[in-house]
Amino acid sequence: NSLDLLLDKLYNTNELSRDELIYVLENLDEEHTQKLFDYARRTRDRYYGNKVYMRGLIEFSNICRMNCLYCGIRAGNSKAERYRLSEEEIFECCREGYALGYRTFVLQSGEDPWYTADRVVSIIARIKKSFPDAAITLSIGERDDDEYRAFFEAGAERYLLRHETASKSLYERLHPGASFDNRRRCLWVLKEIGYQVGAGFIVGLPGQTKQDLVEDLLFLKQLNPHMIGIGPFIPHKETPLGKEKAGTVEDTLVMVALARLLVPDCLLPATTAMGTLHPRGRELALMAGANVVMPNLSPVWARPKYELYQNKICIGEEAAHCRSCIERRINSVSMEVDMGRGDHYKFRQKR
Ligand code: 5AD
Ligand code: FES
Repeated sequence: NSLDLLLDKLYNTNELSRDELIYVLENLDEEHTQKLFDYARRTRDRYYGNKVYMRGLIEFSNICRMNCLYCGIRAGNSKAERYRLSEEEIFECCREGYALGYRTFVLQSGEDPWYTADRVVSIIARIKKSFPDAAITLSIGERDDDEYRAFFEAGAERYLLRHETASKSLYERLHPGASFDNRRRCLWVLKEIGYQVGAGFIVGLPGQTKQDLVEDLLFLKQLNPHMIGIGPFIPHKETPLGKEKAGTVEDTLVMVALARLLVPDCLLPATTAMGTLHPRGRELALMAGANVVMPNLSPVWARPKYELYQNKICIGEEAAHCRSCIERRINSVSMEVDMGRGDHYKFRQKR
């Protein structure tokens, strides 16, 4: 059977052509999906064993100058209650996280110009000074190249910037006023500067085709990022896509597994959006080749306001609760929590 041959080829070489990927997506049945997940798990185990790396997520501002059609904190959503954490409040989240054992903090926000390069540098320096053994990941969108450089020099070592979709026409429809080419350029610049870089995409966007998803996978193969974030589209009622259908757990799991096989050494989160669509969504992602989780360290009062999509999980939970909840979930799929920095293996000796 040619599907078996293609899956074997993918497992053995970590490569498939555009036509081969299309063939796989069009012909996957239940049996071959299980085989795909099995290969993805084995590939993950070869590089990272059964460890799941923990990242503490701090959502420090939901103010955003962008207007992405799918996103609940888009500038155009006048119903969103906006907030910003001060440097002090961000630092407090890190302190709580550090005490719980976290050694990576992901600082995420909308594209909020109040956080000038100087302010961001000051926040990074403050965290680095108190917690020199913790890694800082930024997820604050598109910035100028020299700002990216300044953040890196201040001590930020990782940057998450999903490419969102590799289809130029879909990208332009979903991101009014934004540049498809600049976003991709940013990813190359970040790599060039020396960050561990995370790209990724949304599965099940309105109008997205199998061909588009194959382009997402091929772009990842080409960029070869250190981290890959993949999650299902989930509608938010105060957005133009509020009445559209959500992506599916099944389609997203297939993309997670294919990303694992095409970029075998990447760090790949079981995303919160997966946990939102299905009670065991994150566990299923771990069983399809994921090996990172990002529990929330944001202040409980801020969580419901950082509503990218509806019904987001962990809204009412304290950080300590999420820490133990997630550990139980990880153990339920025979994996183990790793509270270390969880660097990409190419970066392990350097720092
Ligand atoms: N559904 C799924 N993912 C979303 N994101 C934003 N809005 C949605 C939504 N409605 C994702 C984007 C962004 C990340 C932080 O959250 O991919 O990069
Ligand atoms: Fe937050 Fe389970 S991880 S409640």
